[in-house]
Amino acid sequence: MTPSELSQIHSAAFTMSRPWSAQEFEELLRNKHTHLFTCTQGFALVQVIAGEAELLTISVHPDAQGKGAGGTLMSKWMSSVDADEAFLEVAADNHAARHLYEAHGFAGVAHRSAYYARDLGGSVDAIIMRRALK
Ligand SMILES: CC(C)(COP(=O)(O)OP(=O)(O)OC[C@H]1O[C@@H](n2cnc3c(N)ncnc32)[C@H](O)[C@@H]1OP(=O)(O)O)[C@@H](O)C(=O)NCCC(=O)NCCS
Repeated sequence: MTPSELSQIHSAAFTMSRPWSAQEFEELLRNKHTHLFTCTQGFALVQVIAGEAELLTISVHPDAQGKGAGGTLMSKWMSSVDADEAFLEVAADNHAARHLYEAHGFAGVAHRSAYYARDLGGSVDAIIMRRALK
């Protein structure tokens, strides 16, 4: 998947926050710690440093959501990375993502108050989730 295709899927999927540009994806992919996992209409980007994996983003095109692609991507990256534990951050109002992460063994360990600004005004907490991988 090219940086431009990644950006297109990301823009279509993330309606509540700023989409990442093709250039931003290009820079992330140049980093040797960043790993990309893809499926037909989605992808997950994971950073692995010193035994710790962080899910930077996961996006499935809205046309393909709700058919298991997100779950497939989660299983794919968690079984592929060489890390002892994994972390991710999710907006408290992102029920689909929270459901997906909990179903894949993640549990909340901390939160950041009013972390995500919303286009329509106001803000939402970020929840930091963790799970062991080994
Ligand atoms: C989160 C995302 C990647 C999930 O992808 P997906 O392909 O739809 O995921 P799946 O089809 O594997 O299903 C995810 C689960 O969430 C559930 N779900 C979907 N919408 C939901 C909602 N509004 N509330 C609660 N659960 C929901 C599904 O029923 C499914 O659960 P199940 O397996 O128990 O039936 C996708 O919704 C997406 O790209 N969202 C926009 C970007 C985003 O928010 N990324 C995460 C940022 S932290």
